[in-house]
Amino acid sequence: MNKYELLSDIIAPLLYWYPGAARDLPWRREPTPYHVWISEIMLQQTRVEAVRGYYERFLAAFPTVADLAAADDDRLNKVWQGLGYYSRARNLKKAAVMLMDAFGGELPADHAALLTLPGIGAYTAGAIGSIAFGLPTPAVDGNVLRVVQRVCADRQDIMKQSTKDAVTSALAAVYPQTPEEAGMMTQALMELGATVCVPGGAPHCDECPLASLCRAHAAGEETAYPVKAPKRARTVQARTVYLLRCDGRYAIRRRPETGLLSGLWEFPNTDGIQDAAQAAECLARWGLTAQSIAPIAPAKHIFTHIEWHMSGYLCDVETPGGGFVWVSAEAIAGQYSIPSAFAAFLRLL
Ligand code: ADE
Repeated sequence: MNKYELLSDIIAPLLYWYPGAARDLPWRREPTPYHVWISEIMLQQTRVEAVRGYYERFLAAFPTVADLAAADDDRLNKVWQGLGYYSRARNLKKAAVMLMDAFGGELPADHAALLTLPGIGAYTAGAIGSIAFGLPTPAVDGNVLRVVQRVCADRQDIMKQSTKDAVTSALAAVYPQTPEEAGMMTQALMELGATVCVPGGAPHCDECPLASLCRAHAAGEETAYPVKAPKRARTVQARTVYLLRCDGRYAIRRRPETGLLSGLWEFPNTDGIQDAAQAAECLARWGLTAQSIAPIAPAKHIFTHIEWHMSGYLCDVETPGGGFVWVSAEAIAGQYSIPSAFAAFLRLL
């Protein structure tokens, strides 16, 4: 028996259930290809509630593909500030430039062509294809994997690409073929995973349109699925962050063009936790004369694979220098995008 054979039975109940259950979300009101693209990229690593406001502000700042292609990088980063994973914003702009150059300024209504755009993988191409263009292409994210693995009581590790691929092809084989239903199916699966077949704790099986055919539910083992291999431990990096102040201006610098938070602005910082004497030496190396050096409460920031454990100093210096850019707190708030990894220090300005 094919373990995914049950999937052909989930289509009709989900399509029937979705219109009454769909949340009113900004990107569902006018699902143009551009709107669906922007929302799906934002939603990749960020919760729906956090995305709402960013989505509206992003479209006000860059209403069309052409506006995004011509976006000033600092302005783009500023609009993205707080959403995290800035490479998503960089890829959006790169893709917009490609769309202007090679696709007449429009997203292509073709799965393979969508996959050629920076930042668009199988999930996003499936979502844009089905929601915006009505193609029968599933979009398999964590929510959808959970629903499918529970319904089919399948124990394959969902962190494995082979599991994602198997679920994607099994869904593709049963996807509705009419444009309206294909888009609805993608959103219904996402919606069920986000609001009913939820992770962490008991799902709301009493509200689920698939309860009567769900194998995990029949066995009373909903929370045993999906099976997920433990994540590898994050690397801890200690850093010392310097809030260098001179006449009401603060020192910032750009991060390198590659690697973590590439190309974004930051407060000067160094490897390791430095004591007051090492901090004074560090300032001297930057050619700065300190009037005062005061410790700042330690802070942590967690990235996907790295944790920063930060200590810091607020230092008043005599003259600006050190090769840094010296800017007011207002300019930092309005113009320069300093990532949330530095939030604990930004709050002190
Ligand atoms: N998560 C990912 N894509 C989504 C969408 N279009 N609506 C709601 N949640 C989502």
